[in-house]
Amino acid sequence: MKNTKKISAPGPRRVAPIDDAVLLGNRVPLRITDTTLRDAPQSLWATRIRTKDILEIIDTIDAAGYYSLECWGGATFDVCLRFLRENPWERLREIKAHAKNTPLQMLIRGQNILGYHNYPDDLLERFVALAASNGIDIFRTFDALNDNRNIEKSVRFIKKYGAHAQGTIAYTVSPVHTIEEFVRIAKEQEQMGVDSICIKDMAGILAPLDARRLVSALCKEISIPIQIHSHATSGMATATYLAAALAGAGAVDCAISSMAGFSSQPPVETIAAIFADSAVAPNLDMEKIAEINRYFKGLRPMREPAHRMHDIIDPGILRHKIPGGMISNLRSQLSQQGALDRIGDVMEEVPRVRADLGYPPLVTPTSQIVGVQSVLNVLAGKRYAMVAEETKNYVKGLYGHAPGPIDPKLARKILGREKPVTGRPADLLPPMLPHAVDAVDPVLIKAEEDILSYCLFPEPALSYFQWRATPPATRPPIPADEEERKRKVDAAPISLPAQPLMAPADYPALEGLLATVKNLGINELVIRRGDVNVSLTNGGGAPAAAPAPAREAGSAPAAPAPVPPPSIPPAPAEGETLKAPLTGTFYRSNGLNAPNLAEEGTDIRAGAPLCIIEAMKLFNQIKAERPLHLVRFLVKTGETVQKGAPFAVVK
Ligand code: CO
Repeated sequence: MKNTKKISAPGPRRVAPIDDAVLLGNRVPLRITDTTLRDAPQSLWATRIRTKDILEIIDTIDAAGYYSLECWGGATFDVCLRFLRENPWERLREIKAHAKNTPLQMLIRGQNILGYHNYPDDLLERFVALAASNGIDIFRTFDALNDNRNIEKSVRFIKKYGAHAQGTIAYTVSPVHTIEEFVRIAKEQEQMGVDSICIKDMAGILAPLDARRLVSALCKEISIPIQIHSHATSGMATATYLAAALAGAGAVDCAISSMAGFSSQPPVETIAAIFADSAVAPNLDMEKIAEINRYFKGLRPMREPAHRMHDIIDPGILRHKIPGGMISNLRSQLSQQGALDRIGDVMEEVPRVRADLGYPPLVTPTSQIVGVQSVLNVLAGKRYAMVAEETKNYVKGLYGHAPGPIDPKLARKILGREKPVTGRPADLLPPMLPHAVDAVDPVLIKAEEDILSYCLFPEPALSYFQWRATPPATRPPIPADEEERKRKVDAAPISLPAQPLMAPADYPALEGLLATVKNLGINELVIRRGDVNVSLTNGGGAPAAAPAPAREAGSAPAAPAPVPPPSIPPAPAEGETLKAPLTGTFYRSNGLNAPNLAEEGTDIRAGAPLCIIEAMKLFNQIKAERPLHLVRFLVKTGETVQKGAPFAVVK
């Protein structure tokens, strides 16, 4: 018989206790910013929260004892106009009319305001002025690159219009993002006059001990209050809040528990319980909190875009550091290009592109630039063979200083002889307001706020204005209502067998399978394991990532019509053709009045631009791979060209 050796059980190690009386001292209660009206629905519901949803519960939220309510900015503005047919300014006024006790807070992207690039100072100033006069008390302003020149003017205007300016450190992990660098950024913002500073951990990758080190270092060097914003994605955020508060952070961002967790914030109830018996116990009315929780729990089935099988924790983010929102964007971009199978390659390309570009934090708009460039590199089969206009602008310095050095070879390749911009990017922009709405029918513009909406989101604003100007009886349906209607019809959940056929780890595979079944229009699928048969009928409710195709309300469940393959016109006989490397809108020039990039009937040198294909919201310049003679284009400006379809005849 084998001799079994006993392992000695060491027991937990005895360590010196941490005295919370020493750590927390006689401090003020921990302040809680509630994100239930902005970041939480943005993270979980694709921002599909309506003003009427908010107004039904706002009095209770206002009485709960929160430090502030984050209720505006981020994606709310765009979604209000585009999908909800709501005036975001009106939403703000209605919230303000009820929230008498709690300061209202918004997230503003510094000089990017709510958009994806820098705007001129005149627009920024009027935006801040109107946001403040309509009810915003606290502006959290940030720059994706932590380039303080991009938040300087916003801070000045926020102070000018009498609001609280909260500066921000966009937190990320990279070889160039050190504690010293974050402290430098914060000190500079303190000198600019911010009233407090937020550590914004948009991906949920700030580890508790790193938070403690960072907050401790900040407390030594700056005297303004520190707030933490994190996401629960990796599961660390609750511990991170505890560590940060112990180190001296005075406020944290939470969501009500039915809107918390996953890619949203940590739950307020949990944080309140953690600190309940401490010197910093938050002053919250837990009865009110419970009521708010019940309310959002009831709302969830209607507003959540898809009844997905949530991963409660995504440990992948600790490895690849790609925020959840960015991954779903990459998926939808790849599926538009018919290349969803390349998602693995793109995920591996993202860190490489990020390194090439000097490690920008992955947050709007840099997450989009890095994401789209990674997609282009993978689709083209050759890195930087296609370069998005936005990547070029980034390398040129039009978004500000990259945190680390940009790969010099890449910079040369992208810029050629063009010189990078060294000054504050917005200094290059002429005032925008004087002629902002010259092209818009004046009857559509009711107030100054409309002009600002139009400057920020021209197309969604215009379609909202037109919708608003239509008599209610003849208005087209609200896009978000349509989404919900389709979902309701498709929402009979598939009941899984009581005895699971697959281990929980296989559920993502099942999810993919169900989506495939649905997309293929198969009516019934039988899964056989051993002698158990499970039949899945396509009654909808397959947890597909995308909303299911439309079906007549009230009709019996039917298979959706198969999507026809994109038609690719046959190549003309007169020469060789160039094939579109991606699906998108074709343009011959960079803009309305800009000259064509390449003229028909001329010789084009290798590397010279031929045209633009707008895809994935970015403008992608298509270049000649070798010297060629451009006979003619086969596509007109503004037309959609499919990936693989010929777009030009060349010799
Ligand atoms: Co966030």
